Amino acid sequence: MSSVSLKGLGVLLLLVFLVLCSTFDVCDGRRGKHWRQKKAPASSLAQKKGKGKIGGSHHNGGGGQSSPKPSPKLGPGEGCPVATQAVMFNVLDFGAKGDGVSDDTKAFEAAWAAACKVEASTMVVPAEFQFLVGPISFSGPFCQPNIVFQLDGTIIAPTSSTAWGSGLLQWLEFTKLRGITIQGSGTIEGRGSIWWTGSESDVDPINARLSAKMPQIKPTALRFYGSYNVTVTGITIQNSPQCHLKFDYCEAVQVFNMTISSPGDSPNTDGIHLQNSIDVSIHHTDLGCGDDCISIQTGCSNVYIHNVNCGPGHGISIGGLGKDNTKACVSNITVRDVNMHNTMTGVRIKTWQGGSGSVQSIRFANIKVSEVQTPIIIDQFYCDRRSCKNQTAAVALSSIAYENIKGTFTVKPVHFACSDSMPCSDISLTEVELEPLQEQYHMYEPFCWQVYGELYTPTVPPIFCLQTGKPTSNRIQSDHDSC
Ligand SMILES: *[C@@H]1O[C@H](CO)[C@@H](O)[C@H](O)[C@H]1NC(C)=O
Ligand SMILES: *[C@@H]1O[C@H](CO)[C@@H](O)[C@H](O)[C@H]1NC(C)=O
Ligand SMILES: *[C@@H]1O[C@H](CO)[C@@H](O)[C@H](O)[C@H]1NC(C)=O
Ligand SMILES: *[C@@H]1O[C@H](CO)[C@@H](O)[C@H](O)[C@H]1NC(C)=O
Repeated sequence: MSSVSLKGLGVLLLLVFLVLCSTFDVCDGRRGKHWRQKKAPASSLAQKKGKGKIGGSHHNGGGGQSSPKPSPKLGPGEGCPVATQAVMFNVLDFGAKGDGVSDDTKAFEAAWAAACKVEASTMVVPAEFQFLVGPISFSGPFCQPNIVFQLDGTIIAPTSSTAWGSGLLQWLEFTKLRGITIQGSGTIEGRGSIWWTGSESDVDPINARLSAKMPQIKPTALRFYGSYNVTVTGITIQNSPQCHLKFDYCEAVQVFNMTISSPGDSPNTDGIHLQNSIDVSIHHTDLGCGDDCISIQTGCSNVYIHNVNCGPGHGISIGGLGKDNTKACVSNITVRDVNMHNTMTGVRIKTWQGGSGSVQSIRFANIKVSEVQTPIIIDQFYCDRRSCKNQTAAVALSSIAYENIKGTFTVKPVHFACSDSMPCSDISLTEVELEPLQEQYHMYEPFCWQVYGELYTPTVPPIFCLQTGKPTSNRIQSDHDSC
């Protein structure tokens, strides 16, 4: 070989090397295997870090280590250009015990305070440890962007009432961050059963006495607030006292390849709750819980849900919207390729009387239901008390498509109850085929009230009650109602 071509080869190899190293995945994969490996600390960072106090956290966990010994390490992708090296902050290096008994809250706060200062750093919660962590806030807004929370171990919630004070809305909170990823094969275990008992129907005196000590307000296990570019993947969230995963005022959210699990009879344990969030994608996720698998509340638009399993649970719901005469706006929601098994409803829209605003451009497609009580529901008379006042105002519902919804039901195939003053319009059904699970029992017929739209194909069972065309006189909506 001539020296020219050798030199050329050298340049080529160097290029390949640089490209490989600058590819996030390669460095990521490597560091994934070796993050416990000791490396020389990044000099300037390590020195600055030592002085770092716990920033951005508002909680005192009891009993943790008072002087964590921080020793941030560079990822082992030696040879990678410096800019692509992820800095690791392992909670074990900040004094976490991971024995499932010691309170590791302070160690988590310290590790976060360190990770927060470094762009694209990784906070590591290692596998094969169980970390008892109290209510904690991983909060910006002064954190660097694109932090990764690598969860491979298990985080468990405290079950003593003292950890919860007079009641908190969430246990693990991430707020005001830009680019935050929670990934890994780890588990968030809410140990919620202590909170679930003690409802009126519960007559077990021992459980009632235990749960009497827990505050009335039950926490959501994992909540994101006011954040942009949020990813949750790989992990399992289970047995939350209340909702498992909540997004509030978030934008650009990705949830995929994860599991949510709690018993079908655990009260109010929603799977995923979305509120005031836009550009949300949820896919390849298994959701089993005691309430809605996914609940979409006001202020949500551009939500895309697909390839999700739901059950047990109450199905996928938009609402309840418009409670206490509030205005609700929800639009551009797609739910497709979903399996529902043994759920209370399939796809549901529920609004309270007296609300305003609108729900529009909704598509439910390719929904397979089995043993679902009522697969398709619109309820504009939603009321969770014994009775609610009749009111004329309503959240306006329009442009809602049901396509290819098939399987078995146990109570009623379709229930459309729309408002007299604000009938539902542009409701379309295509290839809806719902069979009663057991022919021998009495089943209800499809029900419609004030619902306008079109059947694009015949349905099973036949639906005769849909009105064609547009609602005429009675649809009243003023400017302040529009979204
Ligand atoms: C979103 O987050 C990912 C991962 O943290 C990051 O790589 C990407 O650059 C972010 N995108 C934007 C537009 O900020
Ligand atoms: C899904 O997450 C698990 C960890 O829970 C991981 O092992 C697996 O590789 C992930 N699958 C995909 C397709 O990302
Ligand atoms: C509707 O939402 C999807 C994401 O699910 C988005 O790609 C699309 O642009 C949105 N459509 C409109 C009209 O905003
Ligand atoms: C509301 O209206 C319905 C239907 O007209 C009626 O059956 C019901 O009794 C009314 N409820 C109240 C609380 O007035």
